[in-house]
Amino acid sequence: MHILITGAAGFIGQLLATELLNDPAYRVTLTDIAQPPIPKGVRHPENATAVRADLLSGASDVVNSSLDAVYAFHGIMSSGSEANFDLGMSVNIDATRNLLEALRHICPGVRVIYSSSQAVYGRPLPEVVTDSVVPTPESSYGAEKIVCETLVNEYSRRKFINGFTLRFPTISVRPGAPTAAASSFLSGMIREPLDGKECVIPIEDRSFKSWLCSPKTLVQNLLLTLHLPADSVPPHIRQINVPGICVTVQEMMDALEKVGGKAKLDLLKEKEDPALIPILKSWPAQFDNTQAISLGFKRDESFEQTVRDYKAALEQS
Ligand SMILES: NC(=O)c1ccc[n+]([C@@H]2O[C@H](COP(=O)([O-])OP(=O)(O)OC[C@H]3O[C@@H](n4cnc5c(N)ncnc54)[C@H](O)[C@@H]3O)[C@@H](O)[C@H]2O)c1
Repeated sequence: MHILITGAAGFIGQLLATELLNDPAYRVTLTDIAQPPIPKGVRHPENATAVRADLLSGASDVVNSSLDAVYAFHGIMSSGSEANFDLGMSVNIDATRNLLEALRHICPGVRVIYSSSQAVYGRPLPEVVTDSVVPTPESSYGAEKIVCETLVNEYSRRKFINGFTLRFPTISVRPGAPTAAASSFLSGMIREPLDGKECVIPIEDRSFKSWLCSPKTLVQNLLLTLHLPADSVPPHIRQINVPGICVTVQEMMDALEKVGGKAKLDLLKEKEDPALIPILKSWPAQFDNTQAISLGFKRDESFEQTVRDYKAALEQS
């Protein structure tokens, strides 16, 4: 299969590319506005092509008729979109529309797996979000995602593409540096202390709940979507809420202590960030994932296991 990954220099793009390039069954084109690296240590680097392109102007340059599937991961994250409205609108909406148009004309009917987010939801929210809750985003990022979800639905209904929209939980533990996502601390509060560094938790409420998914489980679910029958979801409702687990700040601290030792907790500082609180509080903390589970999607065992996996991966690298 020939797979195109957009935003391939980013975290999830690199994660998925690593998995695909370990399997000889896939040929992968990685594209990003920043030169996308071929992940190190993969078994089949010869199956990768890296193309630097801005999807705002060059979407048709990265699309060709040999594609079997496209993972659309390019984007400006939540704090970034809130800080720069025009940039968020252009990359998150205009570039996505450009990509869909290029696919429609050059590669009609291609499978498109679009990365959306739980940030499409906003208040009022029930305790548990079901698939029938109407998304009412309270951030530019969430609003941009819901616009693109509608595009994916419409392009699929018209059979221009075979689209699937996956609404990701927050992915934690994410390796690397802190990001411009309002959720950055949800990885930072594990990653930084395990690396001997401080992390500021921008909310002074340890009962604050988040909906999280580990990178490992996300990749399993991304691969599963590659092979989902087109009719697993209705032609005009392509969204699937990817399974997550509900974890409080306190539970995250407990997992850090169990896996990393008590001293790591001293590296966590709690200091409320008034700019982030409305965004964080607008996100749902619990979902009913019945639909996704019935389609075969996986769920993490526990957050402690996620932290153990992260620590083990650190020790191997
Ligand atoms: N990581 C998470 O917790 C999470 C949660 C929910 C949804 N998502 C979604 O998943 C996708 C991937 O997330 P990520 O964490 O890998 O993000 P990331 O920020 O690491 O990667 C996004 C990539 O998009 C690229 N990009 C930006 N503008 C571009 C342009 N004009 N043309 C081409 N590429 C451009 C960036 O250079 C970057 O490499 C995003 O769409 C994000 O909204 C992520």
